[in-house]
Amino acid sequence: MSYFITLEGGEGSGKSTLIDYIKEFLENRGKSVVLTREPGGIDIAEQIRSVILNKKNTKMDGRTEALLYASARRQHLVEKVIPSLNEGNIVLCDRFIDSSLAYQGYARGLGIDEVFSVNEFAIAGFMPDLTLYLDLDPQIGLKRIAKNKDREVNRLDLEEIQFHLNVREGYEEVVKRFPERIVRVNANQEVEKVMADASRILVDRLHV
Ligand code: TYD
Repeated sequence: MSYFITLEGGEGSGKSTLIDYIKEFLENRGKSVVLTREPGGIDIAEQIRSVILNKKNTKMDGRTEALLYASARRQHLVEKVIPSLNEGNIVLCDRFIDSSLAYQGYARGLGIDEVFSVNEFAIAGFMPDLTLYLDLDPQIGLKRIAKNKDREVNRLDLEEIQFHLNVREGYEEVVKRFPERIVRVNANQEVEKVMADASRILVDRLHV
């Protein structure tokens, strides 16, 4: 059975660590897993992404940003996510539509409904089966990032703390809108605890 699972969360919430763990967890249960992240190595989507994240693009308008994310999402979806699901894989994707709803819709103030409509056009009904949302106080998340010197700093990392607090509030709104699909995971715990919580959710939801 193929499933489309997405991971969401603010900066430094531990998505990359958890996604690697989930891949291994599912593979140990005999599942074939494709791990990806937008733009997912898809050339066209990478090109779009480099425009979005370029530190020089300080003039970028919020709607332009939302439209570019939606375009990159579309390309990654049709070139990678859908074909991988059709081959019978579980697809694990680091960030998807909810990032746009929380970051552009709420934190940038474009409106969750407005950004949802743009994304609805882009994904044409292709929503994740399950989304794990790693919930963490951004003050803690940003401290974690500061410790990790290898991580590249992008344009959005440079936003004020208030922006990241807004992103968290945005995710809260998004969770309220999709209570069936999105499951909140407390990311302010030892990594083993986060992994145990995530495994439990996967077993409950996907019966793996
Ligand atoms: P990413 O490179 O995935 O960084 P992270 O390690 O935090 O996941 O994402 C880059 C930034 O883009 C991140 O700050 C979140 C933001 N973003 C949006 O604002 N909207 C979106 O739709 C997506 C996918 C990401």
